[in-house]
Amino acid sequence: MNEAVQTSSTFTPRVFSGIQPSGGLTLGNYLGAMKRFVDMQEAGPHETVFCMVDLHAITVWQDPAKLQRATRELCAGFIAAGIDPKKSILFNQSAVAEHTQLAWIFNCVARMGWMQRMTQWKDKAGKNQQNASLGLLAYPALMAADILVYHATHVPVGEDQKQHLELTRDVAIKFNHDYDVDFFPVTEPVIEGAATRVMSLRDGSKKMSKSDPSDASRINMTDDADTIAKKIRKAKTDPEGLPSEAKGLEDRPEARNLVNIYAGLSEQSVEQVLADVGGKQFSEFKPMLSELAVEKLAPISTEMARLMQDQAEIDKILALGAGQAREIAAPILKKTYEIVGMVGA
Ligand code: AMP
Ligand code: TRP
Repeated sequence: MNEAVQTSSTFTPRVFSGIQPSGGLTLGNYLGAMKRFVDMQEAGPHETVFCMVDLHAITVWQDPAKLQRATRELCAGFIAAGIDPKKSILFNQSAVAEHTQLAWIFNCVARMGWMQRMTQWKDKAGKNQQNASLGLLAYPALMAADILVYHATHVPVGEDQKQHLELTRDVAIKFNHDYDVDFFPVTEPVIEGAATRVMSLRDGSKKMSKSDPSDASRINMTDDADTIAKKIRKAKTDPEGLPSEAKGLEDRPEARNLVNIYAGLSEQSVEQVLADVGGKQFSEFKPMLSELAVEKLAPISTEMARLMQDQAEIDKILALGAGQAREIAAPILKKTYEIVGMVGA
């Protein structure tokens, strides 16, 4: 973290990240995001703030009852994966109004062209952009507000969020420049580890995603042991065995993906994994991977199911987290209003 701390030297290091409650959690979310959130929580001494971004989820249609359930399930997922509400601030975005208040200011700082260049906007809006919600276009300004309303300096995410974080930096730089202040930190993305881009089990060129129509393409955090083993057994591979060095995975996206997953789950580098499994066939490697995935994910899904039995407890944790989050966000928003020239701020 040292280099990053220097770029934002006047700001106390603070970690922020968010996940959308827009469906079940996948192994991609776990390895690319949650597991790394837990590592950062444990590394201390900086504050860690994690958010269920329900307002981002509604940029595309969400059934209200399902959204509520997904938000609570995501909270259970965070806790089951190791986020401790005593060590981290854990809450849902809509409970802290300062996010949307700052997002409006950022809507007026960011330019249309910045938004229209975002690959996620282009992918999600598809051919019929005129019919996409205005929120889907403005999505990255709200994301910048999520981060900057806490003056967060470090944001752990998967590879797919890199462009949004660059835009967050651009918003901070333009705001500081326009108002001639040094108020918002220029945030550092933290995209690290072997599994920052977990790919589909059916197609090594596509990201593993909760919105993929094929359930066989992903491992869900709630899948049972048999389902996990079956999906890995059926995962697409090539006819060659495993190489002993990472170079041997070039142009073999499916093989590389399974090795990356193994490395992420076992907390080893790809090189360390290949030193052990190089020379093996997939018929031998896949059962090893299944066993490891079940060993790591089963306790999490069991704990998630247990927590989901006690909705009141989840809601209590979220309410507590929202209060703590507001304590940080409110003075930063107030100061922003003052800088911008709002009377009565
Ligand atoms: P989302 O589910 O889109 O809200 O993503 C939440 C977090 O999980 C973000 O930090 C994403 O970058 C990360 N993430 C989602 N899918 C993957 C994937 N297939 N591989 C790695 N990280 C992922
Ligand atoms: N856009 C992120 C995603 O889809 C979710 C997100 C919203 C987020 N606000 C954030 C991630 C702030 C990190 C920081 O994955």
